[in-house]
Amino acid sequence: MKNNDLNRRDFIKMTAAAIGGLIGTVIGIPSVAYLLSPSLRAEEDADSIALGPLENYPIGVPTRFDFTRTKVNGWERTATNYGLFVFRKSESEVRVFSDICTHLACRVNWHPDIQHYISPCHDGHFDITGKNISGPPPRPLDEFITKIEDGNLFVTLPPFKRDA
Ligand code: FES
Repeated sequence: MKNNDLNRRDFIKMTAAAIGGLIGTVIGIPSVAYLLSPSLRAEEDADSIALGPLENYPIGVPTRFDFTRTKVNGWERTATNYGLFVFRKSESEVRVFSDICTHLACRVNWHPDIQHYISPCHDGHFDITGKNISGPPPRPLDEFITKIEDGNLFVTLPPFKRDA
């Protein structure tokens, strides 16, 4: 009788442990996978940014284009705003400049009346090709590598520095 009690007690303990282990596994594995998945996920791949049809950009007139890029690194999300100017020199020749002033990173604006990009912070001036021409900016506006595919314009991030 006593032997039977022990066996029954052991059986109940083992069954409870097995059910507990099973519940732990069923709940635990997906939970751990959920918590770890952001750190295992590959970084978002979108170094090429679509700027739309080239024909949207008039020849000879720098045209502004803004976009926000969100980078996901593990649990961390970082949104970066980009502003750029598309300068279409001819039917097929196009250059794209960053709107970040090379002095202290204010955003430049295009002034068609004098054909300059002007940084409002310290009156830095750049010509239509982004070359620094007056004020404190030490070098031209950064430029993006461009690609035209099926009539659509793309730029590659990040922009590159040009020589002074
Ligand atoms: S930040 Fe542009 S001139 Fe100083």
